Amino acid sequence: MKKINRITAISATIIGFILIAPAIISGCKTPDAIANKSGAQLWAENCSRCHNTPDPTIYSDSQWDAATEHMRQKAILTDLEITKIRIFLKSAN
Ligand code: HEC
Repeated sequence: MKKINRITAISATIIGFILIAPAIISGCKTPDAIANKSGAQLWAENCSRCHNTPDPTIYSDSQWDAATEHMRQKAILTDLEITKIRIFLKSAN
């Protein structure tokens, strides 16, 4: 009786893992929709959600480093998204 319970528990764990594995794997991949977007596009879409899109020319490169790190946390952006936005903002100076 005990043995059957253990086998049932192990089977349930394995089946559970098979069911959630695709979600874990696909959750870690960068969606094409983001990978194909330019920094300018990501800036226009994301940095206007809470305030006007900031003019790329107002800050120096090091000021943009600080501001984009601050806003990455506020806007909850991925590393790839904020890196593209940062390159775009710095390229305008
Ligand atoms: C979730 C809302 C939100 C999003 C999205 C957002 N911001 Fe902000 N931002 C704020 C708030 C609120 C402030 C006011 C300052 C504070 O909270 O510290 C601010 C202030 C700023 C400032 C002033 C300097 C500073 O660091 O405080 C800059 C520059 C800025 N945002 C740039 C951006 C850029 C670039 C993006 C896109 C990557 C962005 N923001 C996306 C909420 C947001």
